[in-house]
Amino acid sequence: MATVERSAARPLVVHVVGARPNFPKAAPVIAALSNLDCRQRLVHTGQHYDDALSESFFRQLDLPAPDVNLEIGSGSHASQTAALMVALEAEFLENRPGLLVVYGDINSTMAATLVASKMGIPVAHVEAGLRSFDRSMPEEINRVVTDQLSDLLFITSAEAVENLETEGVQPNRIHLVGNPMIDTLLKNIDAFDSDGIQAAIGVDPPYAVATLHRPGNVDDPNHARELVEVLRRCSDQIGIIIPLHPRGRAALMQAGLGAIERIRVVDPLSYLDFMSLVQGASAVITDSGGVQEETTILGIPCLTLRPNTERPVTITHGTNQLVTFDNLPRQLESCLRVVSQGQDRLVPPLWDGRAGQRIAAIVNDWIQQR
Ligand code: UD1
Repeated sequence: MATVERSAARPLVVHVVGARPNFPKAAPVIAALSNLDCRQRLVHTGQHYDDALSESFFRQLDLPAPDVNLEIGSGSHASQTAALMVALEAEFLENRPGLLVVYGDINSTMAATLVASKMGIPVAHVEAGLRSFDRSMPEEINRVVTDQLSDLLFITSAEAVENLETEGVQPNRIHLVGNPMIDTLLKNIDAFDSDGIQAAIGVDPPYAVATLHRPGNVDDPNHARELVEVLRRCSDQIGIIIPLHPRGRAALMQAGLGAIERIRVVDPLSYLDFMSLVQGASAVITDSGGVQEETTILGIPCLTLRPNTERPVTITHGTNQLVTFDNLPRQLESCLRVVSQGQDRLVPPLWDGRAGQRIAAIVNDWIQQR
C-alpha cells in the first residue's frame, strides 16, 4: 500500500473523502501528488462505513490508509451535513489545510467545502461543473454549492466549462484535466477477471448488471414496486445480476426483487469484482453517475434509469442512453441486438489515464505560486 508523502516545508494538501464514488477519483490524484513530494493528509468522513462500500476500495486501489476517520455515518441530509461540518471544522483547526481537495458531489464534499471556505482555506474541486439541472437531486445542490466556493475547478469534460461560466465562475479557475475515475479504471483493467467473478457468484453469460440506489428510484415504496415489475419484464430477455446498495434494499426486497427467477440479488461488490462483472455483461441498467462513465470506456451498453444526466458526454461519446420505466424493456431489447452486431465508439477527450497527473501538476504550480 502506498503511503502519503510528507515534507514539512510545503503547505498541507488535505483530501476529504467519504463515500464509495470518491475513492476511485482520489486514488490517482493522491498518487500523482505523492510523486511530486507533496505534503498530504487524507481525511475519511466515514459517510460510508460498510467494508464493501469503503475499506475494500482502500485495499484494492492502493489508497493510503486515512490519517483520520471521522466516523460520521448515516443520517438525514441536515443531520449528516451538520455532523460533517462540526467534525471537519475541528479537524481543519487541528491540521489546517493549505489547500483542501474534494471529490464529486456527495454530502461530505459540500460540507468540507463550506467549512473550509468560512475558514479562509482554498478549495480544489475534482469533477467540477457537472449539472443535471435537476435540483430534486441532492447531488446537484452539492455540486452547485461546491463549485461556487472552489478556487480550482478540475473538470472531466468540455460541457462543464459552459455550465460553470453560465454560473459566473471565472474562466481562470477552470481546468479541463480529464477523468481521474477513468485513470483508476485503466490502471486496474488488466486485473478485471470476468470469468473469476462469474464463477464466484455462479452466473453464466449472457447477463445484464443492474445497480439502483437513487432516492428517486428506491425510496418511495410505490416507485420501488414499479421498478421491480419493470426489471421482472427485462429478465424475460436476459438474466440480471444486481449488486444491491444498502439504500433501498428493504423497499426493493419488500417489492419482491429477491423472488424473481432470472434476477440474482447479491451484496455490494468490491471495485475489482464489480468492474469485472460489468466487463463481462451484455448491458448495464443503472442510476449511478460513475457507472455511466465506466461503461463508456468498457464499451458496454448502459441504460440509465433517470430523466437526466449530468454526464452528457457519456451519451454523445459513449454507450449511455437515458431510459424510463416505460421504455426500459424495449431499449434493452434493442441494445442487446446492437451489441451482437458490433458497435463503433468514441472515447471522451482526455479520458486517457493521466487526469491525476494533470491535476497534481496544476496543484503543484498553484502551491509554488503562493
Ligand atoms: C451517497 C451519495 C451518492 C452516491 C452514493 C454511492 C450523497 C448525498 N449521496 O448516497 O451521490 O451515488 O453515496 O453509494 O452524499 N448505508 C449503509 N452502509 C454504508 C453507508 C450507507 O448501510 O456504509 C445505508 C444507510 O442506511 C444510509 C443509506 O445507505 O442511510 C444512504 O447512505 P448515504 O451515505 O446517506 O447516501 P447514499 O444513498 O449511499
